Amino acid sequence: MAAKPNAIRQAHFFPPQSVTLHSGREMPVLGLGTYQLKHHTVEAVTQALEAGYRMFDTSGDYHTQRGIGEAIKHSGVAREEIFLVTKIEDTDDSFAATQANLAELKQPYADLVLIHRPPEDGVGESLWQGLRRAKRVGLVNDIGVCNYSIEQIEDLVYHTGELPAVNQIEWSPFGHSPGMLDFCHDNGIVIQAWSPLTRALRLNDDKLASMAARYGKNPAQLLIRWNLQLGVVPLPKANHVHHQLENLSVFDFEISPPDMAKLRALNEHYSAMGKLPYV
Ligand SMILES: NC(=O)c1ccc[n+]([C@@H]2O[C@H](COP(=O)([O-])OP(=O)(O)OC[C@H]3O[C@@H](n4cnc5c(N)ncnc54)[C@H](OP(=O)(O)O)[C@@H]3O)[C@@H](O)[C@H]2O)c1
Repeated sequence: MAAKPNAIRQAHFFPPQSVTLHSGREMPVLGLGTYQLKHHTVEAVTQALEAGYRMFDTSGDYHTQRGIGEAIKHSGVAREEIFLVTKIEDTDDSFAATQANLAELKQPYADLVLIHRPPEDGVGESLWQGLRRAKRVGLVNDIGVCNYSIEQIEDLVYHTGELPAVNQIEWSPFGHSPGMLDFCHDNGIVIQAWSPLTRALRLNDDKLASMAARYGKNPAQLLIRWNLQLGVVPLPKANHVHHQLENLSVFDFEISPPDMAKLRALNEHYSAMGKLPYV
């Protein structure tokens, strides 16, 4: 379990379309975030499905589950081709909350259910047991966490004997953790990046913008590609269809190793929320 020194890896120059979770199941390398998409969910998810997105990230508290379910139902895309991620809250009965999420989504199962944040006391052992039960009865295929530090993951493993499939955390060149990347890589945990575009707050950064221009891409595309090359799975939220399309157009260029290093060097533990909870 011990993390190796801080050597950020570049997992793939040309990322495959999916990443293998430790269960052996495949997850797309890129998904659509749906936080703050509640007023346009059906339209935005329908556009995204047409554009080619096959993974959607939601939560009971995003108020997007009904819209996602409706968009999927009318899309003509087979359910097996779609990877649905949802979350339960630290104060929930995790089994009942999973059932409630699925009822809103109008889906028989989710691909991944995550504990949204570590509880104030302990590391969520009872939440995990509820999710394990949901997995046993076929309500979910894989289970994981969000916003856990390395120590909290180690504690969870100590108490449950199981590794989370995913740790979903805020992640961008401006705010990330080489130690977490190494730890997750070494333990077969996939990092999903939330706010991978910094909620658009840092897209005007001069260094980012000038590097993106050199590749003939925009800053959002450079941020997404940086994640893919690290083996991190970004979940950019985009309401506008042109943003959705831009964010998929990231498989036709490669960031050079020196530029990957320059992007890593932008790290200032920045958080659009104020503080990275996992560092
Ligand atoms: N687990 C957790 O605790 C947690 C916490 C926060 C978020 N999340 C998940 O992570 C997802 C993404 O994070 P986020 O929503 O906070 O922020 P984000 O994805 O970093 O940024 C979204 C913003 O970027 C804009 N944008 C998207 N593509 C763009 C492009 N190509 N060029 C310029 N601007 C672009 C969007 O505009 P438009 O929408 O107007 O197109 C929106 O304003 C969430 O939606 C949610 O699913 C999880």
